[in-house]
Amino acid sequence: MYKILKQEGMAKRAHFETVHGTVETPVFMNVGTVAAIKGAVATTDLHEIGTQIELSNTYHLHVRPGDQVVKKLGGLHKFMNWDRPILTDSGGFQVFSLSKLRKIKEEGVYFNSHIDGHKIFMGPEESMQIQSNLASTIAMAFDECPSSVADRKYVQDSVDRTTRWLARCKDEMARLNEKEDTLNPQQMLFGINQGAVYDDIRIAHAKEIAKMDLDGYAVGGLAVGESHEEMYRILDSVVPYLPADKPTYLMGVGTPANILEGVSRGVDFFDCVYPSRNGRHGHVYTNFGKLNLFNAKYELDSRPIEEGCQCPACRSYSRAYIRHLLKAKEMLGMRLCVLHNLYFYNTMMTEIRQALDEGHYEDYKQQKLERMAAGPK
Ligand code: GUN
Ligand code: ZN
Repeated sequence: MYKILKQEGMAKRAHFETVHGTVETPVFMNVGTVAAIKGAVATTDLHEIGTQIELSNTYHLHVRPGDQVVKKLGGLHKFMNWDRPILTDSGGFQVFSLSKLRKIKEEGVYFNSHIDGHKIFMGPEESMQIQSNLASTIAMAFDECPSSVADRKYVQDSVDRTTRWLARCKDEMARLNEKEDTLNPQQMLFGINQGAVYDDIRIAHAKEIAKMDLDGYAVGGLAVGESHEEMYRILDSVVPYLPADKPTYLMGVGTPANILEGVSRGVDFFDCVYPSRNGRHGHVYTNFGKLNLFNAKYELDSRPIEEGCQCPACRSYSRAYIRHLLKAKEMLGMRLCVLHNLYFYNTMMTEIRQALDEGHYEDYKQQKLERMAAGPK
C-alpha cells in the first residue's frame, strides 16, 4: 500500500507498506549485491546508520551461494539477519554488464557465469523463480537495458521484448505467490521502463506498463553513460506517464545531486554503489563536498570526517586516524568510510523527507546543492 502524505510540484513524500514494514519515501536503498554491504558492514550496523531497505541481486545470489540454498535456510531475510524490506534486482542488468558472451532470445538470455564461466539461461520465469526462492520483499521485472548508444530500431525491438517479458513476469509471480511452499506469498513486483534516450519510445513504454497494475514502477537504463541533463530530461518526460498512485524507482542513481534532482521529478526510491564504492577508496561525502582521505593534508587532522556527524566513524575517530588505517590497508579504514558515507546518504534522505513534510523542499535542495558545490573547508 502506497500513500502520498505530501506533494510539492512533482516531488512526493509517501509511505510504502510492505510485509516487512513501512518504508518512508523518498528513500535510498543500501546496496548489498551478494547479501552483504561491501566494506565489512554488518546488518546490525545498518540499523545504526538509518537504513530502511536493502538491495540484493538475483543473478549474483543465483550463482553463489545458489537461491535453493538461501531458500533452504529460510530466505534472504533470515540468511543475512535483516528483517526489514529487501528489494532484489532481476538479474537482467547484471547479465548485460558482467557477461561478455551472451545471447538474447525471445525466451530469455544465454550467458556465461562471471565466476566459473559455466553456461546459464535466465528468462522472466527463471528470474521470478529465483527471486521467489530468495523471498525478497520486492522483486524487479526481468528487463533488457539497451546501451545508451544503441540505435532506434534496436531500442524499439528491445523495449517491445521487455514489455512481453514483463507480462510473463507478472503471470509467473502470480503463480509462485500461490504455491504452497512459497516463503513470501506477498512478494511484490515492480516493472521497469526502458527506451534509452528516445523520449517517445520511453513514453509509449511507460503507458503500456502503467496498464499492468504493478506494485511500483522503475525507470531503468539511466546513469549508463548519458549526461546528467539527459537523465533529468528523460525523467521530466517519463515520470508523468507512470501511475502517480504507485512508487517510482530510479535505478542505479546516483550522486547526492542526482538524488536531489530525482526527488524534484517525482522519484521515491534510489539505489547506488557510490557511497560504498567511494568509501572503500577513502572518498567520503560531506556537506561541503567529497574528501579524499588519502590526501597528505589530513595526516595531522584531528577533526572527524564531518563536524557534527553522528555516524559511528565521526563519533569516535579523526580524519588522521582513518587516513592511517586506509594507508595501512586495515579493513577498519574502509569500514568507517563506508559507514560514514551510507549515514550521509541516509541522513540526506531524512532531511529531504523533513523538508517535504514542512513544504520547503526546493529551498532545501538549492541550499544543499550550493553548500556541496562550495567545496571542503
Ligand atoms: N540497475 C540500474 N539500471 C538498471 C536497469 O536498467 N535494469 C535493471 N534490472 N537494473 C538496473
Ligand atoms: Zn560521519
